[in-house]
Amino acid sequence: MNIMITGAVGQLGRDLLRVLGQGYTYTAFTGKELDICDLKAVKKIVGEVKPDVVIHAAAYSKADQAEEAIEQAYRLHALGVSHLAIAAEAAGAKLVHVSTDYVFDGTKGKPCGGLDRTIPLNVYGQSKLLGEQFVHAVCPRHFIVRTSLLSSNDGVNFVTKILSLAENQETVKGVDDPLGSPAYTLDLAECIGRLITTERYGTYHVSSSYGPDSFRSERRYSV
Ligand SMILES: NC(=O)c1ccc[n+]([C@@H]2O[C@H](COP(=O)([O-])OP(=O)(O)OC[C@H]3O[C@@H](n4cnc5c(N)ncnc54)[C@H](OP(=O)(O)O)[C@@H]3O)[C@@H](O)[C@H]2O)c1
Repeated sequence: MNIMITGAVGQLGRDLLRVLGQGYTYTAFTGKELDICDLKAVKKIVGEVKPDVVIHAAAYSKADQAEEAIEQAYRLHALGVSHLAIAAEAAGAKLVHVSTDYVFDGTKGKPCGGLDRTIPLNVYGQSKLLGEQFVHAVCPRHFIVRTSLLSSNDGVNFVTKILSLAENQETVKGVDDPLGSPAYTLDLAECIGRLITTERYGTYHVSSSYGPDSFRSERRYSV
């Protein structure tokens, strides 16, 4: 299977390379190598790579800052995603689109299912939802993978921020009202690796389960 990956140096991108690089041929692109907002470039690269699967892990992932960077968020999350969907469909490739729990308003009080009504409350969630809708409309062979609170070994994320604060401060202060289901990027990459071998297209909600075996996967890859 020939896989094309966007967001190669992002948190998830790096772990996709670690996990999928063990069994598949892949070509991965940083934002400099392929700007997904450039339709011509996307079509050219996808035409050259001829992927069986496109995994789209690039995003403007600073959810709070998206409120100010509205145009950038919509360009990347809606327009850019539509470009990838058009090119993937033309190449006959499956498309994995990584999305977010921000498509929901967070009022349910228990885990949301794929059929729950989407009510995004901010620019990040609205723009990511629009991207999902393009994927639905253009590329029937898709996996929309909604995830939340990503953490990885080599990114800047909630876990690394708290660890760094704890190292440097006697007391760490934080808000205690947000609720979420954190996902470890190696777990997510493994899950995507399993999905792409199937034809079970649709929308998935993926987070990690934390138990005695948590972070076991760390040992199987050179991180
Ligand atoms: N982080 C979270 O907590 C979280 C939660 C839920 C869902 N998600 C979703 O999970 C996915 C992966 O997130 P992440 O945390 O791994 O993101 P990340 O670490 O911020 O990486 C995103 C990557 O996107 C690339 N990018 C930005 N603009 C681009 C463009 N115009 N064209 C091509 N690439 C571009 C950047 O590449 P360069 O640096 O090379 O420019 C960056 O490395 C995203 O879809 C995100 O929305 C993330």
